[in-house]
Amino acid sequence: MKVEKVVFALNGRRYEVVDADPSTTLLEFIRTRTPFKGTKLGCGEGGCGACVVLIAKYNPTKDQVTEFSASSCLTLLYNINFCSVITTEGLGSTQDGFHAIQKRMSGFHASQCGFCTPGMCMSIFTSLVNADKSKNLEPQNGFSKLSVSEAERAFSGNLCRCTGYRPIVDVCKSFASDVDLEDLGLNIFWKKGDKSADVSKLPSYTLGGGVCTFPDFLKSEMKSSLDYLNDSNVAVSREGWYHPKSIEQYYYLLNSGIFSDCSVKVVVGNTSAGVYKDQDLYNKYIDIGGIPELSAISRKDGGIEIGAATPISRTIEVLKQDNDSMSCPNGSVVFRKLAEHMSKVATPFVRNTASLGGNIILAQKYPFASDIATILLGAASTVCLQVTSERLEVTLEEFLEQPPLDPSTLLLSIFIPHWFSDSQKETNVIFETYRAAPRPLGNAVSYINSAFLGNVSLHGSSSDLVLSNLHLAFGAYGTEHAIRATKVEEYLTGKLLTPSVVLQAVRLLRGTIVPKEGTSHPEYRVSVAVGFLFSFLYPLVKGMTGPEKTLSIGCSSSVEEASLPLSSRRETVPSDEYKPVGEPIKKYGVELQASGEAVYVDDIPAPKDCLYGEFIYSTQALAYVKGMKFKPSLASEKIITVVSANDIPSGGQNIGSTFMFGDEPLFGAPIAEFAGQALGVVIAETQRYADLAAKQVVIEYATEDLKPPILTVEQAVQNNSYFKVPPERYPKQVGDFSKGMAEADHKILSTEVKLASQYYFYMETQTALAVPDEDNTMVVYSSSQYPELAQSVIAKCLGIPFSNVRVITRRVGGGFGGKAFRSYNVATAAALCANKLRRPVRMYLNRSTDMIMVGGRHPVKAYYSVGFKSDGKITALHLDVLINAGISPDASPIIPDTIISGLKKYNWGALSFDIKLCKTNNTSKSVMRAPGDTQGSFIADAIIEHVASVLSLDANTVRLLMTSSYLHRAESIKQFNSCNNWRKRGISCVPLIFKVAPRPAPGRVSVLNDGSIIVEVGGIEIGQGLWTKVQQMTAFALGQLWPDGCECLLDRVRVLQADTLNLIQGGLTAGSTASESSCAATLQACNMLTDRLKPVMDKLKQQSGAVSWDSLISQASQDNINLSSTAYWVPGQESSSYLNYGAGISEVEIDLLTGAITLLRSDLVYDCGKSLNPAVDLGQIEGSFIQGIGFFIYEEHETNSDGLVVSDSTWDYKIPSVDTIPKQFNAEVLNTGYHKNRVLSSKASGEPALVLASSVHCAVREAICAARKEFAHSTGSGSSPLTFQLDVPAPMTVVKELCGLDIVDKYLENLSTHQFQC
Ligand SMILES: Cc1cc2nc3c(=O)[nH]c(=O)nc-3n(C[C@H](O)[C@H](O)[C@H](O)COP(=O)(O)OP(=O)(O)OC[C@H]3O[C@@H](n4cnc5c(N)ncnc54)[C@H](O)[C@@H]3O)c2cc1C
Ligand code: FES
Ligand code: FES
Repeated sequence: MKVEKVVFALNGRRYEVVDADPSTTLLEFIRTRTPFKGTKLGCGEGGCGACVVLIAKYNPTKDQVTEFSASSCLTLLYNINFCSVITTEGLGSTQDGFHAIQKRMSGFHASQCGFCTPGMCMSIFTSLVNADKSKNLEPQNGFSKLSVSEAERAFSGNLCRCTGYRPIVDVCKSFASDVDLEDLGLNIFWKKGDKSADVSKLPSYTLGGGVCTFPDFLKSEMKSSLDYLNDSNVAVSREGWYHPKSIEQYYYLLNSGIFSDCSVKVVVGNTSAGVYKDQDLYNKYIDIGGIPELSAISRKDGGIEIGAATPISRTIEVLKQDNDSMSCPNGSVVFRKLAEHMSKVATPFVRNTASLGGNIILAQKYPFASDIATILLGAASTVCLQVTSERLEVTLEEFLEQPPLDPSTLLLSIFIPHWFSDSQKETNVIFETYRAAPRPLGNAVSYINSAFLGNVSLHGSSSDLVLSNLHLAFGAYGTEHAIRATKVEEYLTGKLLTPSVVLQAVRLLRGTIVPKEGTSHPEYRVSVAVGFLFSFLYPLVKGMTGPEKTLSIGCSSSVEEASLPLSSRRETVPSDEYKPVGEPIKKYGVELQASGEAVYVDDIPAPKDCLYGEFIYSTQALAYVKGMKFKPSLASEKIITVVSANDIPSGGQNIGSTFMFGDEPLFGAPIAEFAGQALGVVIAETQRYADLAAKQVVIEYATEDLKPPILTVEQAVQNNSYFKVPPERYPKQVGDFSKGMAEADHKILSTEVKLASQYYFYMETQTALAVPDEDNTMVVYSSSQYPELAQSVIAKCLGIPFSNVRVITRRVGGGFGGKAFRSYNVATAAALCANKLRRPVRMYLNRSTDMIMVGGRHPVKAYYSVGFKSDGKITALHLDVLINAGISPDASPIIPDTIISGLKKYNWGALSFDIKLCKTNNTSKSVMRAPGDTQGSFIADAIIEHVASVLSLDANTVRLLMTSSYLHRAESIKQFNSCNNWRKRGISCVPLIFKVAPRPAPGRVSVLNDGSIIVEVGGIEIGQGLWTKVQQMTAFALGQLWPDGCECLLDRVRVLQADTLNLIQGGLTAGSTASESSCAATLQACNMLTDRLKPVMDKLKQQSGAVSWDSLISQASQDNINLSSTAYWVPGQESSSYLNYGAGISEVEIDLLTGAITLLRSDLVYDCGKSLNPAVDLGQIEGSFIQGIGFFIYEEHETNSDGLVVSDSTWDYKIPSVDTIPKQFNAEVLNTGYHKNRVLSSKASGEPALVLASSVHCAVREAICAARKEFAHSTGSGSSPLTFQLDVPAPMTVVKELCGLDIVDKYLENLSTHQFQC
């Protein structure tokens, strides 16, 4: 039977699709062929959660609906035949009323730019629906059956770059049956400390979610199609989608010759497309998920057989069920641990569609870092295969060793044996699994993983233990596939376990675990393998201390790390002096963001005849581009044209970006100057075709006559390759360095400190839509923090007047500086393509291209020489700073000043420096949240730490930051460290002094005839709450004309999108001050209006007493009063810059065996002056702090030897996720009273708190110091150096290296020697 169509429901509507390309993803369909735009594209590889939807399936025989979350970017459209899909629009909307989740997102201040919010809502919603269906106890009215601990994991895997996750956790917890509502953070439903924090104040929630997830019409349609659904004939799609319903049909299809001349992909969940990205289109797909045998679960005497197509999440359930149903606790340990480990694989929304077999096949075919293959190998599993007509059962080990499979082999099932302890023979089964990965709860593949199984029994009549039947499996360490360490198994079998036996086992293991050449951190991986084996064996060896479980905060009882409670205190001091300014009102438009109604650039419906573009970029650093060809491929056939520098119209320029210090070309022509530079744009009918087509390009380069590229700052120095820093921008030296040095008791000379780059990782990548208009004009919708300059770059490129270019920006899905000067290339390229083709052109960079081309924070290398007294007082500092600015000046000449500004939070006595802004053949580096200040502040703290370690002082003595509570906490950490060998803690406190400089800004306030108010401002809403503050300011300023107070005015104020031809001189939204500048301009404009309206009001008052706003406006209109006023606010001399203050204290724990870092606690205090909106400011502070943790600890933005960014996906670039933020996170916004020259006494909040995250880095350093002290001591090898360089970032690999890659070996050697001596 032929399948002519795919039928499904989307938000309750029926869809029947007959003409889709089989490679169409569900996301692509939703976004391009339906009105629903809430489901976002953030990565396209299952790594961010922006695209999460709920998929419901119906079983007509059992009349049962099952729901699960899925990443729609990986799910293929044809895979959802007869499913129901719910997106965030299906939960609620402006028209139908918002859902409780959407309202709580708003009420708990849990959305900033809003780009992640729909995906968050869907992950939370699916968790609620599933919890409510579970057998958990009935909750009280208004709550779900979800528990607090489940709530904390409900959206693990969904990334948010803005909020720092804390308020989203609160939203989710607010539904939990066991929540204490008083524990939830700042919200609009009640005030902290109110007795009345009760559920009735929250937007009401109906058990089950209150949304019909599977519509009746589809149920009926399925029931009436039962014959069709159960038909076992081959189901063939007209569009190349094949859906065999038996193994025979599969082979029939394979042998039918249908696939002989085409590319075919066999799929189940298609999540492997997130791992190994499709390089080309496929003509045909075979979906084997419909073969019943592949989904069967059969429980057998000896174990359990799980069909290969079973999703990983279902496998976890089955293993847990079997574990629960077993009477013998030891016998179930294997299943329990397997299920626990699998819960850390990928993310919930990937596990729900990713099949168990698909994972094993990936591990078999590729050197994939699979967890599942390793742990199943450790559990001694076997697999059942169908090879054409033959059925085979082989061990997993044999299977993995076979040559890579081709489609003629089907993996049918996996058999996991039961392992029982035998009380008669007095043997116990032991089984443990381990993984070392950048994130504890998954969505991060392991550096190494392992699973160990064995029987343990007493040795004769002694109390010593011996092992037998060992399976020691290791994988993901840079091996072709998971392996068993057979030599170690053989060696350990039957041996009496002593430290020297373990030591010998470790030595054998080091010979077995040999990462392939080219694997990153090979020694780290081997060392962690040793740590895992040690962790497994130590409980069996007398007198050996092993790694304790992560300890809960402040006490010594053992609890699992993942169950540590996430708690927070979020405090603000509202002020009612300038009401509603100063009130923590909810951020404008969050419900719209949550319900998917908020329009981002890519949500603007594609205009008629719209085409799509994707950049072709250079992979070489400095080379002539001799030619570009496209490989013959299906994707290449989709190319409509390629636009390049040759298409720049006469009179136009090859310009892609600009700022006051210089321009940057749009295309590298004829020379590509750096890897990642645009060389052209491929144009196709869809964005996916354009993306895939761009991958087909083969570029011919030539390097004759060219010098080698300059890729490092050292090479720049050798070649004298610098950008000029204008003298007025170069910071001023302080005092006399030589004199200061002469006063010093101690000196540290020329020591290096290094900070790498950071990528913005806004959730919405760079995007623009260009629409040619009449009379040689162009309208460009751009996601930009600086539309005014985008307008000028586009106009210069096209050679037309600025007035011919209208750039419109409504909202930006995260910017962090990356959408200032770096947004123009995309906007300009789209405009150039549209100009050439005379058709609208849209560009939405895929995540990899964005990461490769866009650049990021400036990497900095500094060498310091510092002199200091014995009491820690510093007398002189000299710095030589090398900043890698990349290829163009961009805004880099401001960085030297901000670095020194950040550094000056401490008094250095004399301060001298030499700062070089290096021009290199790398992507241009640009401003990123707290640019320069972050590096400067960190360098300052690194020097303080170094000084303290030389003097054996607590660094905070040198910082003069001692408080009694700090001393108390530092003391308990000391105690903790003295009791724990393999885990160490550190604490650190850093201060913040941060200079900001408000810039001029325009504002226009207009009152319409019905009394509604529109406001236009220069600032862009990038998630920082600018519109909300402007709304508050308008209501405050016009409130004096409003008889009932200004609160009601808020609802009548609408802030409009930026439009460069409407309000000119919009300026740059960056540097933390755009909100206050826009507010100041608004205030001025409102005051002008008030001056005009006051006389009208007085006149009316005299006539009829009280005057309503509406009658005032009506009268003013009749009197021909100008109801629109425009202001251009320019900060005065005294308000041109000011300082922000704050402090952060962080406590961390490190695991010495893996280097894993747990952030136990962070406390922040921050001075916001009289905050314009404390809720918004608190969100900015928390969010920037967490972004800073990413910079200091997790995010490795790496390049290859040509300078091409290789950390180009969510796979290898790890921003903080909810499981990596501090377990306890307290943030307090201080109200420091009046600040004469500030806008209503307010201060900035967007960037400064980021630098406080260096407290985490410093605390990690303290913990490493403790580890190095310990091992210098316990190995008896003398004191180990406590002065060491800890660069930025400091991920777990680095932590482990600094703690010692051989500490286990040394520990064992030491014990063995003692044992021998005894
Ligand atoms: C974001 C993300 C994070 C991840 N993190 C982890 C992780 O931390 N640890 C980990 O181990 N894995 C991880 N994975 C991998 C994930 O587990 C696999 O992608 C998934 O299990 C593959 O299953 P699938 O059904 O989607 O396979 P598909 O993508 O449909 O197929 C994968 C391959 O297997 C073949 N195939 C599938 N089933 C069979 C069969 N029965 N017989 C023969 N061939 C078959 C297909 O032809 C295809 O070549 C992650 C994946 C993603 C997307
Ligand atoms: S877009 Fe699908 S997970 Fe990121
Ligand atoms: S609000 Fe989450 S990414 Fe911006």
